[in-house]
Amino acid sequence: MLAAAAGLAATGGWPRGAEANAPQPALASLSDYEAAARERMAHMAWEYINGGAADEATLRWNREAFERVRLAPRALVDVSHLDTRVKLFGQELPFPILLAPTAYHGLVHAEGELATVRGAGAANAAMVISTAANTRVEEIAAAATGPVWFQLYIQRDRGFTRDLVQRAVTAGCRALVLTVDTPVTGPRNRETRTGFALPAGLGLPNLQGLKVDANAHRSREGSIYSPITDPSVTWKEIDWLRSFARVPVLLKGILHPEDAALAVKAGASGLIVSNHGGRNLDTVPATIEALPPITQRVAGRLPILMDGGIRRGTDVLKALAYGARAVLIGRPYLHGLGVAGAHGVTRVVEILRQEFEMAMALSGRASLAHLDRSLLWPPRNPREK
Ligand code: FNR
Ligand code: LAC
Repeated sequence: MLAAAAGLAATGGWPRGAEANAPQPALASLSDYEAAARERMAHMAWEYINGGAADEATLRWNREAFERVRLAPRALVDVSHLDTRVKLFGQELPFPILLAPTAYHGLVHAEGELATVRGAGAANAAMVISTAANTRVEEIAAAATGPVWFQLYIQRDRGFTRDLVQRAVTAGCRALVLTVDTPVTGPRNRETRTGFALPAGLGLPNLQGLKVDANAHRSREGSIYSPITDPSVTWKEIDWLRSFARVPVLLKGILHPEDAALAVKAGASGLIVSNHGGRNLDTVPATIEALPPITQRVAGRLPILMDGGIRRGTDVLKALAYGARAVLIGRPYLHGLGVAGAHGVTRVVEILRQEFEMAMALSGRASLAHLDRSLLWPPRNPREK
């Protein structure tokens, strides 16, 4: 099965094999990329990427909750020019969609994270590099043509963690994303059933020097703990991290408004409302439901980003209407990577970006400054805003 995966990864895109001359349907949406990726990916990689925790309730809700939010468009607004630029931590991004940190791109494509970062650059999207990448952060950053940030799992060895942060920042990562929702992972039943293991040749080069093996994200039999995440981390580590980080520190995986308030107090530069794509604690709410109480509580003191279930331009619009400054996508760009390497990553971002622009134009909003709760159905009386 893994040999098959390597073969598929090497071809890098449509068309292939005996079907090469048959007309291929165009891939029009992120769900088309998902379906195409399912056909091309090894079953084990597919299960690792697409699975969630336990009964996958949160994984489903992340999508369903977006579908339940309805829009209240306005007519006869000049939308001949759209301004989708967003400023985050002094960096200007042309549109508010980033690539979320995900582990093990080598499972999906022979060039792994190097293909992803090239694809992101070609689409003008910022990429958050995972601690659990199959490629060294220095190499990924060197291949980048757009902004890169670094996602951190604090290691039990704090000296090593500090060196890793310094390596990432020296390599050019412009922000640190500390993941705070993974003291342990959730029960990944799909991984267990398929006997998920990294193929030979793929490892965790960013953690080289630590005594962790290549499948270290999983807990060992008989224990819930993982060798690559430290379950003892608390708010005091935020101070410690900020003392040497030299770049903005964001906290990823905040769901509770009280934690959002503590993050402001702890001096975080930003928050990512996230449930880890439904992979950790099952039955937490969809992120689009967790977002509004958090934006309300933070009241503009910090930029808030969100991820989880973003598959359509209207999803991006809804997240921004609820007060997110930007969104991140995880699985969709991995599907793009699996279907067509760097080009697939670029196409997935471009499709989502274009859908977002259509959604702005069709709802009568010409700039991000006009995306607010007045966009949400039922319509409100503007005088009561
Ligand atoms: C992730 N995610 C994740 N998050 C993180 O902070 N560090 C990591 O290494 C990973 N690894 C990872 C691997 C895979 C295969 C997936 C699908 C996800 C979570 C990720 O950053 C993000 O929160 C979710 O993927 C967002 O949900 P969607 O867009 O996948 O629905
Ligand atoms: C995951 C870990 C690596 O979600 O964050 O698989």
